[in-house]
Amino acid sequence: MNFLSFIEQKRDGGELSPEVIGELIVAYSGNTIPDYQMAAFLMAVNLQGMSGNETRALTLAMRDSGEVLQFPKDDRLIVDKHSTGGVGDKVSLVLAPLLACLGYRVPMVSGRGLGITGGTLDKLESISGFSTHLSAERLVAQVQSIGVAMGGQTSEIAPADQRLYALRDVTGTVPSIPLITASILSKKLAEGLDALVMDVKYGRAAFMRERDEARALAETIVALAAECGVQCRALLSDMDTPLGRTVGNWLEVKESVACLEGNGPADLEEITIACVDNLPGGDADKAREELASGRAREKFNELLVAQGADIKAFESKLNKDVTAPVTSELRADQDGYVHRCDARIIGELVRDLGGGRQKMDDLIQSEVGIDHIVKPGEPVEKSAVLARVHAVSDSDAKIALRRLAEAFEISADLPTSDGLITEVVS
Ligand code: URA
Repeated sequence: MNFLSFIEQKRDGGELSPEVIGELIVAYSGNTIPDYQMAAFLMAVNLQGMSGNETRALTLAMRDSGEVLQFPKDDRLIVDKHSTGGVGDKVSLVLAPLLACLGYRVPMVSGRGLGITGGTLDKLESISGFSTHLSAERLVAQVQSIGVAMGGQTSEIAPADQRLYALRDVTGTVPSIPLITASILSKKLAEGLDALVMDVKYGRAAFMRERDEARALAETIVALAAECGVQCRALLSDMDTPLGRTVGNWLEVKESVACLEGNGPADLEEITIACVDNLPGGDADKAREELASGRAREKFNELLVAQGADIKAFESKLNKDVTAPVTSELRADQDGYVHRCDARIIGELVRDLGGGRQKMDDLIQSEVGIDHIVKPGEPVEKSAVLARVHAVSDSDAKIALRRLAEAFEISADLPTSDGLITEVVS
């Protein structure tokens, strides 16, 4: 296979056949194409884009680099949700058990956080004993028995995506609509889904800064998923402000538990319920009922037990207000309304406190982060707490507090807002 000529074809704006794209992925998976050539190909795609046929061929070839999960036939739909990544985005932790309560099967395969966006796996691993390493066989068995499993991507599920994503991450080729589409859908198609709900974020702390770009990505994903037999809708949601009032792995688990008990922050509940509402048969009222009744929280505990968590330790940790060595509060310097609470600054500072990674093999600190965040549109009085830092040391807390002050803006009048979920692409 003359890979160089395919790179050149793509560089010059040509269209590659599905067969060629399929062969490229097989060859890359079999190590007959070196990373430097694949990197050049990815950059050509990033600059020239891909046709719908090319994107479909790439997605299917990446899906077929591993297994497609096979579930026994039963009445329950197999569904999942995927977010393009945000700060404080803990929707999956609430939604997965909630969907299981509502009678869906949820084989949720999630990722780790990288950069400023958090990852579901890192959040779950702040729970003592919880294992995210599930084989395909175990994942299927657990979903069949309790309706939900939450694990990481294994070498069995779209392994080509794991390698390609790592290469994109270091070659400036992440923000490409066909590459993001193929990356997300290859994994989701490998889960054997009936339906998928996407949360495509835009704004200060999202991949896609502009709503138009987010819409273009959402439309591509929704259309291709449908062509591949998966019903899909995508929410477009704002990511200028963190979701909920906490950012940081353990703090986000705690907030998710509050939401599972019907006491979550309004924005987190809004996205969670909208995800339910946009799945086939989804019923927002029933979803709220499952949260308020405590059944969703019980299902979460069932999930924790199934995946090895120490429930006693978990419940006792939940009762602690603070688990990090140091806390420090940011207070308002005037009366007024919060106008800005910048998710990018908060994401960066939580990452730098140790809550996230710069490189994939960095170790993370589960207990650090920010909580008690006051959100745009809320009134504050001078000296009221705007947010609280959880850090490993006094010096880290001091630095974080200075940066946190830059994330907030208070002013005398009420700010305007377009709302959290601004569109649904279906
Ligand atoms: N999430 C993914 O899984 N892949 C991407 O390329 C971007 C976001």
